[in-house]
Amino acid sequence: MKKGFAKNGAALLILALVLVLAACGKSGGSEGSASSDKPAANSAAGADANKDGKIKIGFSMDTLQEERWQKDRDLFKAAAEALGAEVEVQSANSDDAKQIAQAESLISQGVDILVVVPHNAEATAAIVEKAHAAGIKVLAYDRLIKNSDVDLYVSFDNERVGEMQAEAITKIVSKGKFVYIGGSETDNNAHLFKKGAFNVLQPLIDKGDIQIVYDQFTKDWNPANALANMENALTANNNQIDAVVAANDGTAGGVIQALAAQGLAGKIPVSGQDAELAAVQRIVEGTQTMTVYKPIKALAEKAAELAVKLAKGEDVGADKKVNNGKIDVPSVLLDPISVDKSNIDATVIADGFHSKEDVYKNAK
Ligand code: GAL
Repeated sequence: MKKGFAKNGAALLILALVLVLAACGKSGGSEGSASSDKPAANSAAGADANKDGKIKIGFSMDTLQEERWQKDRDLFKAAAEALGAEVEVQSANSDDAKQIAQAESLISQGVDILVVVPHNAEATAAIVEKAHAAGIKVLAYDRLIKNSDVDLYVSFDNERVGEMQAEAITKIVSKGKFVYIGGSETDNNAHLFKKGAFNVLQPLIDKGDIQIVYDQFTKDWNPANALANMENALTANNNQIDAVVAANDGTAGGVIQALAAQGLAGKIPVSGQDAELAAVQRIVEGTQTMTVYKPIKALAEKAAELAVKLAKGEDVGADKKVNNGKIDVPSVLLDPISVDKSNIDATVIADGFHSKEDVYKNAK
């Protein structure tokens, strides 16, 4: 019985094969393209690439809260479009579940590549997994995605950013009670900024010259949370604070508001980052000491260029590696620039990041 069945089965299989081959041969010539289009039409990515030949980039952003992210969105879109690609942007409002859902939707819309600014360095590893399962590569934009097989990381030298902040502050005050107002704990950059700052502060702490009297992360980088933290730092220390290292301009704004309420704005050095217009104006006014200018146009253009290359399966030539807890991620890290009163004109204004008119609007 078994043997007979196997024999009949084999005969049927051969017959089926012959029929399939004959059918293929028939459509191979003139209708060949129609038949080979079929599987592509099932996968949205294939369909899009075939329809207009355009690379479709999904840009999944954590937030548009800070001024910089609006620049990132606009400059990235413009750079990608100049390369003939199209960009679909989603912003998650600092919500992990929302960011993952939005990325899933971009994947199912058939993007050819995902570019992600993660809200949460760990949670977004799920996005990398889902994208890879669909054959889509992922570029981590500005912030690293940890413990994942993320394909590329394009950012600035973020440890250097933290060093620049602490260097500028300790150049003015190198003794006394220091406050560290960090970024969002779920953002890998916040840890790099802190590491950089403490590369500079630790030797002074060890010498006994400075004392860290308050050290807190700022939930979601929210300036209101930084304000509350700074109020606590002032209260706990009877307003006896000598310097503040704040991780970005948003948190610096909160810090300076708390200092102003105690009549201390402009009397205590405060760092920042991002060269936001409000921060550069505070530097001119004298309530903020410095900011770190990160040329967003260069970042956006580099990321767009490499995203298109990744989507096409081309070599991206990333010269550095950054370990994310799982792999050494091929990385491109651009240089940040320290900005204080002395070089605003030669940096942010010369670059057209802000106009001279805007920067000096409130100057007397
Ligand atoms: C960081 C970014 C900074 C700052 C902050 C808040 O990851 O590198 O430039 O904007 O997020 O969004």
